[in-house]
Amino acid sequence: MRTTIALVGSCLLALWLSAAALAGAPETFAQKCAGCHGKDGKAQTSMGKKLSIKDLTDAKVQAAAKDADWEKAITDGAKDAAGKVVMPGSKGKISPEDIKALVKVCRDFKGK
Ligand code: HEC
Repeated sequence: MRTTIALVGSCLLALWLSAAALAGAPETFAQKCAGCHGKDGKAQTSMGKKLSIKDLTDAKVQAAAKDADWEKAITDGAKDAAGKVVMPGSKGKISPEDIKALVKVCRDFKGK
């Protein structure tokens, strides 16, 4: 009986945690990413223009990268051709699960 309760409890906790991660991702994007990428992902911000950030709503930009590429970009950050860090990495600041959820947020911009 105790084991059943513990099992049900941990399942509920896992569900709640993944729901929290998914629900939180758009807010995380708005807080930590939109300053450069724009709330709509089009990067029509002053940073976006300065750093020529790609338009995440563009189907070509979406097709050119795999989820793993984006996970890596968000985790480790991005450098320009001269090796200067243009996007800070989120390693240790955002959990791997939340980074996966952020990739989904970036995918959702497609065609918008
Ligand atoms: C300081 C500005 C800045 C911030 C903040 C920022 N980015 Fe970026 N991001 C960039 C730049 C610059 C690039 C490289 C140019 C490009 O690929 O558009 C980039 C690239 C990316 C790419 C790869 C696009 C591609 O196909 O090459 C993704 C995905 C991305 N950012 C997501 C995010 C997410 C999610 C966050 C928030 C956790 C974030 N960025 C925060 C500036 C920023």
